[in-house]
Order: sequence, then structure tokens, then C-alpha cells
Amino acid sequence: MGRIRLLSETVASQVAAGEVVERPASVVKELLENSLDAGARSIDIAIRRGGISLVRVIDDGCGMDRDDALLSLERHATSKIRSAADLQAVATLGFRGEALPSIASVSRFRLSTRETDAIAGTEIIVNGGKIDVVRDGGEAPGTQVEVRSLFYNLPARRKFLRSENTESRNVEHQIHLQAIGHPEIGFSLMRDERILFQLPATATLGDRIRDLYGIELLQRLVEVNGAASPKIGISGFIGQAGLSRQTRSQQLVFVNGRAIESTLITGAVREGYHTALMKGQYPVTFLFVEIDPGAVDVNVHPAKREVRFRDPNGVREAVVRCIQQTLEHARAEWQEKFRAPVPPGPAAAVSAKAAPDLSLRSEIIAPEATHRELPHLGTVAGIADPGRAPSEIVGQALRLPERRFDSPGDSPPLHQHERDTKPAQQQFEIIGVLSKLYVLMENASGLVLVDQHAAHERVLFEELRRRMEQQGVPTQKLLLPQTFDVPPRDADWIEHNLSVLQRMGIGIESFGPGTFKIDSLPSFLDVSDAAQFMRKVIDDLKSVSNSASAMRLGEEMIAKSVCRHAVKANDPLHYPEVEKLIRDLLDCDLPYCCPHGRPTMIQISLAELEKKFGRKI
Ligand SMILES: Nc1ncnc2c1ncn2[C@@H]1O[C@H](COP(=O)(O)OP(=O)(O)OP(=O)(O)O)[C@@H](O)[C@H]1O
Ligand SMILES: [Mg+2]
Repeated sequence: MGRIRLLSETVASQVAAGEVVERPASVVKELLENSLDAGARSIDIAIRRGGISLVRVIDDGCGMDRDDALLSLERHATSKIRSAADLQAVATLGFRGEALPSIASVSRFRLSTRETDAIAGTEIIVNGGKIDVVRDGGEAPGTQVEVRSLFYNLPARRKFLRSENTESRNVEHQIHLQAIGHPEIGFSLMRDERILFQLPATATLGDRIRDLYGIELLQRLVEVNGAASPKIGISGFIGQAGLSRQTRSQQLVFVNGRAIESTLITGAVREGYHTALMKGQYPVTFLFVEIDPGAVDVNVHPAKREVRFRDPNGVREAVVRCIQQTLEHARAEWQEKFRAPVPPGPAAAVSAKAAPDLSLRSEIIAPEATHRELPHLGTVAGIADPGRAPSEIVGQALRLPERRFDSPGDSPPLHQHERDTKPAQQQFEIIGVLSKLYVLMENASGLVLVDQHAAHERVLFEELRRRMEQQGVPTQKLLLPQTFDVPPRDADWIEHNLSVLQRMGIGIESFGPGTFKIDSLPSFLDVSDAAQFMRKVIDDLKSVSNSASAMRLGEEMIAKSVCRHAVKANDPLHYPEVEKLIRDLLDCDLPYCCPHGRPTMIQISLAELEKKFGRKI
């Protein structure tokens, strides 16, 4: 009897604070959100000892009068919503009236605020949730909040804090998020009395990214173009194919201006990149999704970090499509680099001196020459003869090994198709092959290194995909049909995608509950254990999408099998083959990365070289 008691207001706040305030970065997040909601144009943040000893946020927003300032420290006191109906379409970052009282209950807290036209402001000091001082204050219009000694009254929570450096990094990440989300607002951060950054208000997101992360990153991003569907707008920047990170720290996603973590959206981004992203790596995104506020529920996570969409599939599809289109647009720009003529310069002069070999070299590269007309390098006198041109770098580089790429015994060259005969306009010169793997080329921008193995994978991948689209998938009967069991969820997935799998050339049918039989597989696959292969395919594809399209499934299978067909790193290629490989690569939809997302080529600009050689600082 009598075991249940009402908690005191202070304890109740501390319990609530457990959800809202996890670490200094959460304090920073809540205070920044308040400043943004208050219409600030400029926000200055200072932290000491990773924010554990001090977090201070100063804004020039609308401020509060004394009554509101006092009220703001009460739980469930907010100016942002009034009724449950408002919760359906929240337009501000805050809406719960929880943040300030929660923070004030677990710290030594000072709020100083003044409305723009008010004669005096108000200063309130709260310790561990109890208001100690309320007095007139004379600060500039706007609001200042100081949070000292976080969790001083909750030693157990304090123990969960990480090192000062880690906490600082978390704080910085929060500020980066808001700074990217609001380029029109100035931000500064001072850490332990040192200014870490001062970001002026800028007109565009691109400028903000440059100010925060540097021009090199901006140059490797592509702008996301416009509306994805009538109901969803998607904008921002994403990394070019081949650009990725080992962590999620530059994978920023905003929904209606709110930085969120969404497995739905990051999954869709990943699918949009598909072969343009390395396994285990994360894409770089500054992605802004705009959607009717009524179609998204923001009230699903204690720290407002997640949202729920009313039409998750619609959002997913819009994001996938948008990423795909953006990457494909970027391709045109990339190819431009190889179409611009190589400017006559010192390199040309060197070539001119390398007389005997150069005639051959220019013949090979001549735009109108096709693969078949080219002289076979091994048969040209002098090239493979060390005695003839020992001193010329160009000649050395041209001394390519004998074995032909499409020599008898090899599988038929998959890369030969009608594009062979297209007049090639690309202007690049192949200098040679380094370490039997990297093709060195010169284009208008400088030096290009191509990984011949990765390049060949990309060419084969797109060729197989084209065949699949045009002629369907040739299948090969298994010697012995195989049956295999799967757990119920996987069985559902297979049942659901059965017709797609069959169209993909997989002869699969149901063989009792949770059991399936396979009797044929696409002939381009080289699979020893069909059942194991199917389990792998299911695992890989399930995570990608619940209702994968035939194309998508097929692409995934091709990507997995292509590696086996592609030129191995050390396979020597003849000169014309190298050249054809490069041309084929440049004709690909996504030339700059292999089907596993590794880069196929790296451009080193003349400016970079000049910098490295100290010609330019
Ligand atoms: N920097 C500020 N400038 C002006 N008003 C502020 C500021 N910070 C807080 N307020 C006022 O105090 C109220 C309470 O803030 P608090 O952060 O506790 O709740 P909220 O922002 O309404 O909701 P949430 O808990 O989701 O953040 C706000 O609704 C706002 O009216
Ligand atoms: Mg708030």
C-alpha cells in the first residue's frame, strides 16, 4: 500500500532530460534549434572542455520578455505549437517545450535575453533545475544561454561522457549540420578560447560547403537537380561517383530543413549510387528533401533525430531516381574533359623529339583511326627491341607485352559492339602503362591515371547490362537441379520476386514450404554452388529493396560476376587494346567507377602538378 509516489518536478525534469540531453552535443543542438526558430541571423557558439565545462550560444534572434523567459523554463511550455492539430504539420525545429527545462535541470544554467525594442533584458540563473536569480539584464538584443558543468548533479551520467576531444567533435558535427542547413546564417565556433571557424552568411549552399570543407570537396560534388516528383522536392549536392568516405560524417540529410538520420533515405541514396559506391563506404551527401509537413511525422524520436514518412515508398523512390539522374548528368561534364583538345605545350615538344616512336604513337592515337586499322604493336619493328629506342621515355612506355587481350582461348571479347565504328572525338593521349596496371594518359586538364582492371570491369558490366536489356538473359541448365531451404522471410521474398528472378535467367520454382528448386542460371555466371549463390543474392538484394526490379537484380548479379571476366590487374594489354579500352570506358554511362564503386580513373591537374613541383604556391 502507498508504494506509488508522484515525482517532484525536478526529478521529473531530470528523467525527461535523460532523453533530450545525452551529451554536450545535444545541448548545442537544442540551443541552435531555438536560435534558428527565433529568427537569428548570426549565432556564436563557444565550448570549453568539449562542452562539458561550458556551452554558450549567443544569437541575435527575437529574444523574450521577462514572462516568456520564465515560462520558457517550465516543462511543456512552448510558443511553437498550440494544439494537437499543429503537431500534424510542425514548421519549426522545436515543438515540445522540453529542451530548456531539461538542460537547466542537469547543469548550472544562465539565460539572458532581450527583445529588440525592449529597454531592458532579463537574466535568469538556474542551478540543477531550481531558479536562483531573476533580474534585469542589459545584454544586446537576442538571447544568450550558458550551460556550465553539465551533469554536475548526475554523476552517473557524467561517467558516460567520452573524452573532451570526442565530445568536441560531436559538438562540431552538430554545428556543421546546422550550418549546412542554413547557409544564410552566420556561425562561429570558439573552442577553449580558440576560434575554430567563422562562417559568414552566404547566398548559396555551395559557398557554405566551400567555407566549411574547402574548395577541393566542392569540386568533387555534383548539384542535385530539382524536383524529384510533384510532391517531393530534392536539392543539394552529392559526391561524384567514386567519391566516398569511411564514416557517415559527411552524409547529411535534411527533411524540411531539419537534419535527420534516416535509414530509409540513406538506403535510397545507396541504391541510387548502386555501382558507383564502394562496398562498406559511405557517400558524401548534402541532401535536402522538401515535403508537405503534413506528410511527415517529426514527433517520433526523443531527440528529434528521426522522422516518419506517411509514404515511405514514395520518398524512397524519389530519392533513388534523383540520385541516379544526378550521377548520369555529371557524366556528360566528365566526358567533356576528354573532348577538349590537348593544348600544345612542353609535352608535345618532348614527343616531337622522340622521332621514331612518335610517328607510331600519333598514328595510334589519331582520332579517325579505328582499332582494327591500327598496327599490331608487337609486329612493329623497333618498339619491342630494346636496342632501338633506349633513351626515350615514350618508347619505353610503348613497349607493351605480347599477349593479346582477345587472343584465342580467351572468352570472346564482350566489349566489341557497334560503338566501335563511331567517330571518336576524344582528345587524349596515352603515354604508357605503369606497373602493368595503370594507364597513364594526358588530357587537356593534365595527367589521368586509369586502373585498367577497374576500367574493364565497368566496360564489361555495361555491355552485359545492355545485352540483358536487348536480348534477355541466356541461361544454362544445371547438371543437377538443386533444392535449398530458406527461412520464412526469405521464402516470402523469393515468392514475391519469383517472376523477376525467372526473367533474369534463374530457373527457380517453389518446391514445398520454405524450399525452392533451381535448375538453371544465367550463362554468364560462373557459379559452383547454386544454392549458396542464391542465398547470397537474396541477402544482398533484400537489403537493397523489397521489390527489386528485374534490371536491378540483373545488374547486381552482373556486378558480382563481372570481376571474373575482367582483365586482371597484371594482364598485359597491347597498345591498341589499351586505347580501345579507354574509348569504351569513356562511352560508358558511369565511366569513372567500376561496378563496385572503386574509381576507374584519377585526374591529376596541371595545377596540382605545378603545386607539387613548387612552381606555384
Ligand atoms: N534563443 C531563443 N530565442 C527566443 N526564444 C527562445 C529561445 N530559446 C527558447 N525560446 C523560447 O522558449 C520556448 C521553450 O524553448 P524549448 O527549447 O524548451 O522548447 P521548444 O523549442 O518550444 O520545443 P523543443 O523542446 O522541441 O525544443 C520556445 O518555444 C521559445 O518560445
Ligand atoms: Mg527548442
